[in-house]
Formats: sequence, structure tokens, C-alpha cells
Amino acid sequence: MPRPSRLPIDAVRTWATREVAAHPRDFTQQLAAHFGVTRAGAGPLVRQLEREGFVVRSAGGTRPRFAPGPSRLLAERVALPGVDESALWEQRFAPWLDLPDNLSNIVHYAFTEMVNNANDHAGAAWLDVRVMRTVDAVYLAVVDDGIGTFRRIAQALALPDERLAVLELAKGKFSSDPQRHSGEGVFFTSRAVDAFLLRANGLEYRRHQGERWPARQRLADLAATTAAGTSVVMAVSLAGQRTLRETFDAYTLGAPEDYDFDRTVVPVKLAQVGSGNLLSRSQAKRLTSRFERFRRVELDFAEVQEIGQAFADELFRVFVQAHPQVELVPLNAALPVNAMIRRTGFRPS
Ligand SMILES: Nc1ncnc2c1ncn2[C@@H]1O[C@H](COP(=O)(O)OP(=O)(O)OP(=O)(O)O)[C@@H](O)[C@H]1O
Ligand SMILES: [Mg+2]
Repeated sequence: MPRPSRLPIDAVRTWATREVAAHPRDFTQQLAAHFGVTRAGAGPLVRQLEREGFVVRSAGGTRPRFAPGPSRLLAERVALPGVDESALWEQRFAPWLDLPDNLSNIVHYAFTEMVNNANDHAGAAWLDVRVMRTVDAVYLAVVDDGIGTFRRIAQALALPDERLAVLELAKGKFSSDPQRHSGEGVFFTSRAVDAFLLRANGLEYRRHQGERWPARQRLADLAATTAAGTSVVMAVSLAGQRTLRETFDAYTLGAPEDYDFDRTVVPVKLAQVGSGNLLSRSQAKRLTSRFERFRRVELDFAEVQEIGQAFADELFRVFVQAHPQVELVPLNAALPVNAMIRRTGFRPS
């Protein structure tokens, strides 16, 4: 019989999340039977589940009643490839999360997009998926043991440096498998959730809503659990009012029904690899590659101190003249950056 302290606690939490509602009167006995421990051995586990909010005990004494608490954990390891992300969500995760509709849509979308990515792009053998609900947020972790997102992108585009793959991912509309995919999953998932952290190949891509980076430590812990190909961890606040639809609408310039992904926002600082300074025409060409797939590209110059004359000329004069159908919109430009942009003759429309 296994000692209770040796039981994988996440398996116990997952079992409790799924089973407590069905066993209000005999929860402890069921737990003991399922994990092959004595009832005395199950006692401390049940108390831990109570402390952590996975179960709530009422009518104490010798005839306690158990009910689901505010905490939920659903952790699964699945073999790849061949996972059906929608079936996995519907059958193994969604029924126990009890989320309001707007958040349920966001979590469903984020879950299925990231599981699909691992299945289709990672070349991985397994996938760990964890969805955790606390009193104030839902956390998702999707971790595969594959090639790593940035290596996959760098190979597909023959990039000279894997760090440039972070820039390509941030732009959106890149897929290494354009026959079957459109390069939207990471772009929209990272904007639909409150915090998004994708780690792979020693690099990371992160985004968060507003100034606060919610639960930074919890996300970092989740991401650190496995040495992996790609790990994606995300947080969705239970107080969130946003809908998934609003996130899609924000990147459509035409009528919302078009669902046309034609606006992007590019963090220019991601083009700063190597020497760091944005000076050359080749750096500008790297930045503008695939810009012609959008109608408007907003260039976020946050954390860029200055840019060189050739870089600015290539971007704001040469590219603009060659692509009149693409509108460039500089954002957050520091004074020296702005001065260099104006020297090219560029005037925002
Ligand atoms: N888990 C992963 N392992 C390896 N590469 C990945 C992984 N996730 C994403 N990628 C790479 O990042 C690219 C962009 O992913 P994203 O989800 O944004 O688009 P997509 O999956 O290609 O298209 P869509 O999501 O619209 O079906 C992928 O084409 C792939 O090259
Ligand atoms: Mg995808």
C-alpha cells in the first residue's frame, strides 16, 4: 500500500476536483479506495484538500459532508501526436471549471489553440496540460517535449538567430505550416488572456494586460516545472469583463463580421538582437518582412532609445513607398527616435 505522502499530490487534487460532488458522504473512503491507502492515511490528504480549498467540509463530527470548494485542478499527461484538443477540453477539463460564459470562451480558446500547437508543430511525444482555478484566477499550463517554438520558426524562415523568431511570433500571421494553419493562435491567445508567457529554446515571449503582471511568481513556477520543448503558461482573472470577440475585433479594421486580421502591433525592440542598435537597412528589412499581409502595422518603439538613419529611411521611406497599401503607425517613440523618423519625410496619416 503506498504511503500517502508518496502519492502525487496533483493526481489527488485532480481526482478530488472531479469526484467530490459525487461523494458528499463517503469522500474519504472513496479517496482511500481510489489511491489504495488506508482511511487513516487518507485523513491528512483530505485535510490538505480542505486547506487548499479543493473541498469544503460541513456537518463535522463523524458524519461530515463534503462539497466542491473554490479551488480546482485538472492535470493530465497525454501522448502526442493525435490528441483531439476539443474532445480533451470538453471531456476532461470544462465540466469542472464552472466559469462565467465570457471567461469560459477565453479559456476554451486558449486551451485548444495551445494544445493544437503542441500536437501539430512540436514533434513532441507527450504533453502536460494543467488547468488550475483559484479564488481569483484560472491558470493554464501547456507543456510539450518537442523542438521548441522558436527553433521551429527559425528553421522554417532560415533565420540567422533564434531570437528573431520572437519578433516573427509577435507580428502574427506566421505559420510554419501555411497549408493547414494561418498563424493566429499565439497572437490572439496572448491578447485574450490577462498574462501569457511562452518559453522555449532559452527564450521567451510574454504579454500581459495593463501595467500589472498578475501572479508573476505563480506563472514562473508553472513554467519552470518541466524542462521542455515549449511551455506556455497563462492567467485569466476571474474578475475579467472582456470577451473573446472584443479581442478579435480589436485587430480588424473593417466591419467586425469580417473577422479580417489586418491590424497588428509590433514591439520594435524585438528586432534589437546582436549589437542591439537598430542601424542598418537589413535590420529594417527583417522588421518589415510580412508587413504586407496587414493593412495597418503599429510600430511600438517602447524601450528603443534610438534608431539609425539608414534603418529609419528603409522603414519609413523605402518600405512606405513600395507598399502604399500598408499604413505604418509609430507608437511610443522617444524624442531621438521621433526626430529620426521625421527626417525621412514620413508624416503619419
Ligand atoms: N508547441 C510548439 N512547438 C513548436 N512550434 C510551435 C509550437 N507552437 C507554435 N509553434 C510555431 O509557432 C508558429 C505560430 O503558431 P500559431 O499558433 O500562432 O500559428 P499556427 O498554429 O501556425 O496557425 P493557427 O494557430 O492559426 O492554426 C507555428 O506555425 C509554429 O511554427
Ligand atoms: Mg496555432
